[in-house]
Amino acid sequence: MATTITTSEFERVREFLQRETSISLTDDKAYLVETRLSAIMKAHGHADYDALLAAVQANRPRELRDLVIDAMTTNETLWFRDNAPFDAFRDHLLPAYAGEIQAGTRSRIRIWSAACSTGQEPYSLSMIYDEATRRFPALRPGHLEILATDLSDSALATATAGVYGGMAIQRGLPDDFRERYFSAVGDGRFAVRPEIRERVAFRKFNLRDSFIVMGSFDIILTRYVLIYFQDDFKREVLRKAQGSLDKGGVLFLGASESLPAGVAGLAMVRRGRATWYQRTDAGVPRVAGASDVRQPAAPARPVAEPVGPGSAATNAEHMAVRQRLRDLNAKYDK
Ligand SMILES: C[S@@+](CC[C@H](N)C(=O)[O-])C[C@H]1O[C@@H](n2cnc3c(N)ncnc32)[C@H](O)[C@@H]1O
Repeated sequence: MATTITTSEFERVREFLQRETSISLTDDKAYLVETRLSAIMKAHGHADYDALLAAVQANRPRELRDLVIDAMTTNETLWFRDNAPFDAFRDHLLPAYAGEIQAGTRSRIRIWSAACSTGQEPYSLSMIYDEATRRFPALRPGHLEILATDLSDSALATATAGVYGGMAIQRGLPDDFRERYFSAVGDGRFAVRPEIRERVAFRKFNLRDSFIVMGSFDIILTRYVLIYFQDDFKREVLRKAQGSLDKGGVLFLGASESLPAGVAGLAMVRRGRATWYQRTDAGVPRVAGASDVRQPAAPARPVAEPVGPGSAATNAEHMAVRQRLRDLNAKYDK
């Protein structure tokens, strides 16, 4: 049973988390600290949360800080989450990149999945790219580099191993993708095939840190992570992301997320069910047919229920996956 946290202990945990990760806990999240930190507290022989925090701050043991931070992250994810960004990658961005490679004006494609959790987001992109190499001979397997980062050690360990079982292998992954891009490893678990895994590099990275060391990217995804931050820090992350995009580079947010006011240099582009934000100093966006560019004066409208036309999953299957996701999210909100 979880040990009850006092108001002052909760306040101190909240300050610690805010300072270290920018994750912002609202007043009603004391239960979350109790359910996630109680076991660590007991395992390390601390009688209360203050004692646990004191040990974290004294680095006794050194790994305790990361353990506490890891436990406080929410790593909810699934394959092809929202579908629309992945459809846009396949139908709009990759054809444009293939044309540029063909014309000799581009030599590689760089993507950053910032807050990649257990790896479903970058591996989904890698699978789509693999398919595209068959449609566009100009796209060679080595042209795409995906950097995938997260703060959570346990999520990164799963991502790096690339082995999924239970619900994790099912959620959002069409059967034909599982058959083509995974190998069964026993116990109902499946390993991502090497050709999909090898173009993804996983690294630990805190979004509080400077983005300059990461280099520049054609696409950055900061999906379903800004929701944990306060508005000022959301803006800071988005400004840093804008600065890390190449000319004409593209930023994807989650379907329920929008660009807050005060982030300059990004224009909203809508193509079918997809919405993305494109660096505006490129003049006319490079993506073929992306004519409906809007300045981000108003927040983006939520994207309509997205179902990938090219995906093997049916509408009903997508709805079922979303319902399961809502149920899981509801678990965190109890
Ligand atoms: C809900 S998951 C989103 C995963 C994926 N982007 C998706 O859309 O499915 C949010 C992730 O953000 C990570 N995260 C939270 N705060 C972070 C920070 N300050 N720096 C880097 N990652 C962070 C968490 O560890 C978690 O894995």
